[in-house]
Amino acid sequence: MLINRLTIFISLLVLIANSEGLRVLVFFPMFSKSHSILGQGVVSRLLEAGHEVVHVTSYPRSKPEPRLKEVDVSSIAERLREEMKHSTSDNPFALRNLVGKGNIGDSVLFLYFTYDLHRRVLEEKLVVDLLSDTKEHFDAVVIEWFFNDVIAGIAPLFKCPLIWFGSTEAHWQVLQIMDEIPNPAYNVDIFSISRSPLTFWERTMELWMIVKKSLMMNLVVVPFERSLYNSVFPSIASKRGVTVPSYDEAIYNGSLLFLNSHPSIGTPFKLPQNAKYIAGYHINKDVSPLPKNLQILMDNAKDGVIYFSMGSNLLSSDMSETMRDSLLKIFGELKQTIIWKFESDLPNVPSNVHLVKWAPQASILSHPNLKLFITHGGQLSTTEAIHFGVPVVGIPVMADQHVNMRSVEIKGFGLVVTLAEDMAPRVKIAIEEILENPSYMQKAKEVSGMFHDRILPPGKELVHWVEYVVRTRGASHLRSPALGVPLYQKLYLDFIIVLITILYLLVKIINVLRRKYSASKPKKIKKN
Ligand SMILES: *[C@@H]1O[C@H](CO)[C@@H](O)[C@H](O)[C@H]1NC(C)=O
Repeated sequence: MLINRLTIFISLLVLIANSEGLRVLVFFPMFSKSHSILGQGVVSRLLEAGHEVVHVTSYPRSKPEPRLKEVDVSSIAERLREEMKHSTSDNPFALRNLVGKGNIGDSVLFLYFTYDLHRRVLEEKLVVDLLSDTKEHFDAVVIEWFFNDVIAGIAPLFKCPLIWFGSTEAHWQVLQIMDEIPNPAYNVDIFSISRSPLTFWERTMELWMIVKKSLMMNLVVVPFERSLYNSVFPSIASKRGVTVPSYDEAIYNGSLLFLNSHPSIGTPFKLPQNAKYIAGYHINKDVSPLPKNLQILMDNAKDGVIYFSMGSNLLSSDMSETMRDSLLKIFGELKQTIIWKFESDLPNVPSNVHLVKWAPQASILSHPNLKLFITHGGQLSTTEAIHFGVPVVGIPVMADQHVNMRSVEIKGFGLVVTLAEDMAPRVKIAIEEILENPSYMQKAKEVSGMFHDRILPPGKELVHWVEYVVRTRGASHLRSPALGVPLYQKLYLDFIIVLITILYLLVKIINVLRRKYSASKPKKIKKN
């Protein structure tokens, strides 16, 4: 009897919870592991809050979960990898091929890559089926913005608000779809290696970067995007019985922008009202325990542990042999225990170096014996380091890693080593400096305190804003007025033209008057 009543009560509770729960589409087109971790973080926080989620991802979960439906698009990445293997050129993104290169994020190759990625995702059968399914409805869509706007067309298909997700520090390319291009005199490009305050030359280069990229985008990429938009969305819309707005209307209609950053670790950007910093949201509240062998290793490390990982995209096993062996040599000279995420086996590894193919990063970073994290400086790694208050040595390789590490260095909780074949001695100097000088650890703890000192934990804040956008039907009251103002008006070019015209006319009038005045004056006639 009691059990019966209890089940009725529980089912009622579930019903109530469900009727208030939202159904959210979380769409992360970028297939790399780190971007997928961010997508999974969004999903976890929404599920914990009782919402239903459909997740388009390349890294589905190992077991099914209630209220979660996953659309597995990992075949796109597999196909890309296959094509790369068949083409004669070596993988341009492998670590050994990135040494001494400029930032790959600035290249035409990168622009093409992002366009091609979005095309493949939007033409993928599973995605088209999901978007065309007339039984499917969503209260909001959360979409990762990855240097491409075309994907905005998904929101109007479901007549629901669009929430962008930016995986990096704020920057002009993502802010311009929500607000406007921030002043390049003190806001550097996400792939720039300059730091504010900028010199005359650096300021000029930042401006040039915006002009160059805008031209490349508008002349080369946007025409392709526009035609992709028109080939994909109207036909799906007609199946759903809705009409889609034009490309330009769709891409500037985001209700909110989440930024995976925070001023404590990044830059205090001037943000529009509908952009929110939520870095750290992806880290679970409870850190899972270490595997037994690592637990024993870390507990017993008298002189502390150094953790070395180049992230999930840049594999240490892709290093050149010279680089790898020289690093092993300097590690062998240290008294600390080194945990190196290295994806294959190696002979002759020094006894204090422990290779792991997969590393439970959060669990390692949270161990009290951890002294230092050697990282490529990806946004996830620097965020996790500061979440747990650990100083870092950064070896940035590409994309936003330079921006992130520059910020770490300015804040004083880490040092940068330039990636090079012969970097090992410099890595050793940086390690010794951080181990011997307590200021780095102190700074890491201090910044960590600021990182956590927020009105709401970032995961809760994320959920709040998703619900808020739905409650306010798109939060149009937060929309930046700058979106409606053309550039020539922002720069007052029309005013300057009017001013110049008035000045010109004034000069003209004065000249005419002067001539008239001097003409009417009686001329002195010389009499001889
Ligand atoms: C822009 O988004 C709002 C809120 O979701 C929606 O009501 C409106 O129809 C959208 N406008 C266009 C042109 O898609």
